[in-house]
Amino acid sequence: MLLSVSNLTVSYDRAMLVNDISMQVDSGELISLVGPNGAGKSTILRAITGLVAWEKEMLRGTAGGDVTLEGQVSFDGQSIDKMPAHDIVKLGLVHCPERRRPFREMSVLDNLMAGSFLFKDHEESHRILETVYELFPVLKERSKQISGTLSGGEQQMLAIGRALMSRPKLLLIDEPSTGLAPLLREEVFNKIMEIKALGITILLVEQEVATVFKMASRNYVLSSGKIIAEGVGEELLEDEVIRKTYLGL
Ligand SMILES: Nc1ncnc2c1ncn2[C@@H]1O[C@H](COP(=O)(O)OP(=O)(O)O)[C@@H](O)[C@H]1O
Ligand SMILES: [Mg+2]
Repeated sequence: MLLSVSNLTVSYDRAMLVNDISMQVDSGELISLVGPNGAGKSTILRAITGLVAWEKEMLRGTAGGDVTLEGQVSFDGQSIDKMPAHDIVKLGLVHCPERRRPFREMSVLDNLMAGSFLFKDHEESHRILETVYELFPVLKERSKQISGTLSGGEQQMLAIGRALMSRPKLLLIDEPSTGLAPLLREEVFNKIMEIKALGITILLVEQEVATVFKMASRNYVLSSGKIIAEGVGEELLEDEVIRKTYLGL
């Protein structure tokens, strides 16, 4: 078991965003987490990578509200639910957040190198850079270009490339296809399959349910902060209530 989440609950003030969820990801798997807007998907990823705990700490004693965070998260045999976000990323649990946001003023190359900031071994960083360039030749072509001038699809590739530079064992990818044209979506999904083939485990959050159900070995369906179903795509699609009510298919 690479990632194990047990009884995770997150509330902001009294609103429960994530309600007692448990999930497991084995090494080498691609697992999906799907569900409607506002279901709590991003909050789960942010809780796993230590960002909710960081926010809780920041908001303590302020008028900004009160965050409750409960549950156990373990990664690669270690408990990480009390670990700061910057230590979690060092273990190889890397988050590629929603709404691709490279540093717009920086070049493509500088953005990619920012992803390897944790590592002092430059030779290793350059080796990984070559892997990222092989995966995304467009980033190599545009390495000196200012990132803010890239197209939406290229910025998404850059966001994923930057996450890869942090050497993930497990990559959490939040809605990479949202806002992209159909052909680009397909390309993003193809790249994700290539990343999996490199041996990187993936937890993919997506709205494009029909596509991810074909890619993932197992799926979690989230609704209003609760996991309401779990299984392989074909099985989940057989259930008419799940299909119509939660997946909109
Ligand atoms: N920092 C926050 N404070 C209060 N409510 C939030 C915060 N972040 C998200 N929410 C709310 O929590 C719910 C779940 O959000 P989110 O995890 O972003 O869902 P999803 O990623 O599935 O669309 C939404 O109703 C959202 O408005
Ligand atoms: Mg989200």
